[in-house]
Amino acid sequence: MRDYEPYYTEDGSIGLYSYADNDVYHSKFGALTEAWEKFVIPSEKILTQKDNIKVLDVCFGIGYNTKALMSFVINKNKKIKKNFFSKIKNKKLKINNGIVSIDINNINSNIDTIDGNNKLIKIDCLDINDELVKLSPFFKTVKTPYEIYSQIVPDIFDCFDSYYKLREIFANIVSAFAPKNRIEIKELLDLKFKNMHIEKEYKVNEFVNYILINRLSELYGRDYPNIKKLMPEKRFRRFFDKSLIQYAKFNQKWGYNKSSLGILSTLLHNIYYDHLSKRNKSMDFKAAECLFDINFYINDARKSILRINELYDCIFLDAFTYTKAPQLWSVEFIAELYKRLAPGGVLLTYSNSALVRNTLLENNFYVGKIYNSKTQKFVGTIASNDKSQIDYPLDNYEIGLCGTKAGIPYHDPNLSFSKEDIIALREYEFRHSNLASSSKYMKTRRKEENNEI
Ligand SMILES: C[S@@+](CC[C@H](N)C(=O)[O-])C[C@H]1O[C@@H](n2cnc3c(N)ncnc32)[C@H](O)[C@@H]1O
Repeated sequence: MRDYEPYYTEDGSIGLYSYADNDVYHSKFGALTEAWEKFVIPSEKILTQKDNIKVLDVCFGIGYNTKALMSFVINKNKKIKKNFFSKIKNKKLKINNGIVSIDINNINSNIDTIDGNNKLIKIDCLDINDELVKLSPFFKTVKTPYEIYSQIVPDIFDCFDSYYKLREIFANIVSAFAPKNRIEIKELLDLKFKNMHIEKEYKVNEFVNYILINRLSELYGRDYPNIKKLMPEKRFRRFFDKSLIQYAKFNQKWGYNKSSLGILSTLLHNIYYDHLSKRNKSMDFKAAECLFDINFYINDARKSILRINELYDCIFLDAFTYTKAPQLWSVEFIAELYKRLAPGGVLLTYSNSALVRNTLLENNFYVGKIYNSKTQKFVGTIASNDKSQIDYPLDNYEIGLCGTKAGIPYHDPNLSFSKEDIIALREYEFRHSNLASSSKYMKTRRKEENNEI
């Protein structure tokens, strides 16, 4: 963690600043909100349209996009619970002395998902940084104002609402008599308490991180880093979820061999019962876990993509901005993504830039804008090989902008150039280009519009 500095984003979720990149990994307006707004909500149409959804999360980081997607699927899947109880009724589950037993394969084949069909969501996650990926489940997904408040002055206020009302007064008083807390108070105020909707709608389902821990320990086995070593510094502790750490320690100590889990009774009592507290919840957890097939490819995404022979319904592209990571915005890399998009699939990204949009256009994508109906703003770019997936196509002005110098794309022949070489190649093309500059284009367009008026 020494290379990163965690911070609270405005919705209460945790963001990371990287010293090496001198850049933030997450929007300061809300890491989790962004995941929902730019990736999950725009995927909703496909998620409800198709069976056996496949998703590619390019630049998994600490996994907000995947977590939000999993959360969406679990929360929509109200039938998980129903199934469980109907199985008890049908005596498919045995209950001996209060211990519930169930055959995993049995439950797996009986899971109903979003629209009642049997479905499995495959999510392939790419990132170059294994430390972040392995840490991802342990980051508190949302730090609520209540949690922040209760850490700062425990036991003074016990009501969430009164906290909201009193926060200003409270911050003033506390910073006056406890100047040591000044930083926390500032953080607390900086949050601006915008996370009420996170509380209600977007909050990550509690099973999600447990599922990720299970998957990561399954994949990395003994190599999975010692959890104690991961969070060595006291100042970072508040950013991590204690119960998840305990759970991971338990897994590491006792091992967790799925093949021996034909009968879940021991597991229920020893692990999920302890950590998820209610037995019924544990069964839901098992059912939720069975919904997902999650894979991690830890390497330069340019290398990983070439190993993947799969067609995806949704591709999330959440790389750093193109000036920092041109490797993942080049015509050639995007071409690899295009090849792996299932018919009618969508590629989603937060970027609204002419360069990114032009790179997509050059690869024959239909390109449009992601619209947030709540904020009534365009918040990103959607691209597809099927025109009907684009609800808000680029308008003539935006398409024109893509054809200016600003839209000149990056090239990375053989997907192996260094970042510096990719940038230099574009700069050369930029200098020798006869295209209009974006500012000239904008001026001309403004003049034309004025004349029309
Ligand atoms: C903006 S952050 C992504 C945030 C992430 N979606 C999340 O929810 O935390 C960019 C990510 O790109 C990863 N990255 C940078 N260069 C990469 C490369 N060449 N291949 C794969 N991942 C890369 C970084 O490790 C970082 O996690």
